[in-house]
Amino acid sequence: MAGHVLIIDYGSQFTQLIARKTRALGYYAEILPAGLSLSEPLYEKPGAIVLSGGPASVSDKGAPTLDPLILETGLPILGICYGMQLLAQNLGGRLSQEAHGEYGPADFYPLGSSPLWEAFRGAKSTKVLMSHGDRVEELPEGFEITGKTRDLPIAAMSQENKKIHALQFHPEVHHTEHGDKILECFYKDAGLSPNWRMSSFAVEAVEQISRTVGPDKKVLCGLSGGVDSTVAAALLARAIGDRLYCVFVDNGLLRLNEVDEVATALNEVYPFMNLIVVDASTMFLKRLKDVSDPETKRKIIGHTFIEVFSQEAKKLGKVDFLAQGTLYPDVIESISPQGPSALIKSHHNVGGLPKELNFTLIEPLKYLFKDEVRSLGATLSIPDSLLWRHPFPGPGLAIRIIGPVDEESLDLLRQADSIVQQELKNFALDREIWQAFAVLLPVHSVGVMGDGRSYGKVVAIRAVTSVDAMTADWARLPDELLARFSSRIINEVNGVNRVLYDISSKPPSTIEWE
Ligand code: XMP
Repeated sequence: MAGHVLIIDYGSQFTQLIARKTRALGYYAEILPAGLSLSEPLYEKPGAIVLSGGPASVSDKGAPTLDPLILETGLPILGICYGMQLLAQNLGGRLSQEAHGEYGPADFYPLGSSPLWEAFRGAKSTKVLMSHGDRVEELPEGFEITGKTRDLPIAAMSQENKKIHALQFHPEVHHTEHGDKILECFYKDAGLSPNWRMSSFAVEAVEQISRTVGPDKKVLCGLSGGVDSTVAAALLARAIGDRLYCVFVDNGLLRLNEVDEVATALNEVYPFMNLIVVDASTMFLKRLKDVSDPETKRKIIGHTFIEVFSQEAKKLGKVDFLAQGTLYPDVIESISPQGPSALIKSHHNVGGLPKELNFTLIEPLKYLFKDEVRSLGATLSIPDSLLWRHPFPGPGLAIRIIGPVDEESLDLLRQADSIVQQELKNFALDREIWQAFAVLLPVHSVGVMGDGRSYGKVVAIRAVTSVDAMTADWARLPDELLARFSSRIINEVNGVNRVLYDISSKPPSTIEWE
């Protein structure tokens, strides 16, 4: 998309936030990992460049450097934190390393008449989030100081005739007041038009799919019932109608009523789409019998999924395309200089299908974030019941039963999990929470039920807030809700006499237990 914003990623944990905020303002944004050159043919010419923050010090050996092509473009540039230091270093300024750095909120005092300060509408100071070890001591030639804090005389600098701006603080984080406005002012000053809209994305994506698939070829799509594959299928259904075949594998590890709910909702919205529900639960459970090791479980499930999917694909005769709900964070992770992301999702990724099936991939969501996929789904009239489903892992309940998986444990966990989902909805917290679920632990505990002793199973509840599942915090749920979870699960789920609430964040824990 020409005239968009290109964000160069120097490794900040906030880089994806810059992209999300930028898109939310109506400007399309893409991220280029710092290790790749601007000359990479990956991207169309942008209209402005943002240099992200990063954990390194510019003076560190091996620290990411500024691609000289960036300055040569003559495009408007916004340097954030490490990005500001890179600009200073490359344009002849002087930097110093602070003994303790500055991390946390600060009062920022705008100076001069920077177009970025339209964001404050005349306020004398504003709260910003600082997170840096280095600081700019002397300006590069042609720059002026455009802001300070109590401890930092050069907290922002600009060379206005070249539309190069630099901020020592992070405008992309929630804790910087007016941060979105600052970004917006930069894009306006750069002359960009805010024309990125979900509805126009949908129209373009549908046209693109129709062109790629042509008038008579078929597309196969693996549906998991999750948001991503559902929205991908909805776009495909609009583009090619009944030449779309969706395979939904019931692996026996799904949540209560999941197969029926997903199938009914999809059939209502797209009755012409060919939905094939394959009940392969016996095969999966047989192969998982007595298996406790999490990685072995994942591998068995992954291989079995591929086997079932391939069998279904073969039954359909010649199918040329395979559609997947790959999202932008997956794309970014797989081209980042740090190398591909952990293999955690590989088995779930249908890209692992045998080569002889010979599919061409279609990934209509590969430029979107999860929240964008949800708004796209809304423009496609997908019901909220599908759009707001919490993410659910490919290996399903098997990795929420610690130890061997069997029918009895699955039934118990389904009931406990369903109570968690119902009560979260009753407290109207299901959309705020990224994921909430029950986990069955391999321990028994003593209890007293009625007049007798019980020796029952233990269920842990996990509820987290997150923006992209890369990091997550345990959700501070109201006591009354926790009490509901506990009393309902112990009373209604036979065999459970204790309920725990997981108060671990990611990192160091992960969201799932296995
Ligand atoms: P973790 O446990 O790694 O999970 O913090 C991060 C997110 O990924 C989901 N997850 C998976 N999704 N296949 C998937 O499709 C998997 O094997 C898998 N393992 C974890 C998890 O539910 C969370 O949303």
